[in-house]
Amino acid sequence: MTIRPAQPTDAQAIAEILHSLEEYPRYKNGTLPILEQKIAASLTTASDRTMLVAELESRVIGFILVHWFVPLLATLEGFISNLFVHANFSSLGAGTALLEAVKLEAKARGCSRVALNNWRDKKSYQTGFYEARGFTEKPLSARFVFSLEEGV
Ligand SMILES: CC(C)(COP(=O)(O)OP(=O)(O)OC[C@H]1O[C@@H](n2cnc3c(N)ncnc32)[C@H](O)[C@@H]1OP(=O)(O)O)[C@@H](O)C(=O)NCCC(=O)NCCS
Repeated sequence: MTIRPAQPTDAQAIAEILHSLEEYPRYKNGTLPILEQKIAASLTTASDRTMLVAELESRVIGFILVHWFVPLLATLEGFISNLFVHANFSSLGAGTALLEAVKLEAKARGCSRVALNNWRDKKSYQTGFYEARGFTEKPLSARFVFSLEEGV
């Protein structure tokens, strides 16, 4: 398994990963070319984000996107907005390897912590995927969203 920065040429493989996931009907129902187009547009080299892919025998099977930011009067943090592994390649260690790579980069950047949201109805939450990898659930914290678009 190789972990490397995502490149614009990975857009198709990343779209196929999202399309493979039964738990995420909004990606499953979307057409592949439209997904690919949107992903290609977001594969920038901006320094406030890192996108990595996991490659197995030259095939991209997973990816992770982390955003780096500094809250007022605090130190640098990482926020993982996406971690997805192709349904046909789960439990091969790609998700863990991508998380470990982000933890390493966070340490190298001097971050104080890395955080993410995990839906309680997803298998990843129910199997304790993040807890088993050193993340701690914060029961006192609630996520609030102000939607500016319907269904978002
Ligand atoms: C969760 C996910 C990233 C794990 O990646 P992975 O490469 O399969 O994980 P690893 O091989 O490193 O680790 C295996 C663990 O992943 C979890 N896992 C395996 N298959 C899974 C699946 N289809 N869905 C959710 N979690 C799964 C289990 O906790 C498993 O633990 P075990 O080895 O004790 O059984 C991947 O399954 C996935 O993309 N799921 C759908 C999207 C998702 O839930 N993303 C995280 C939401 S923030």
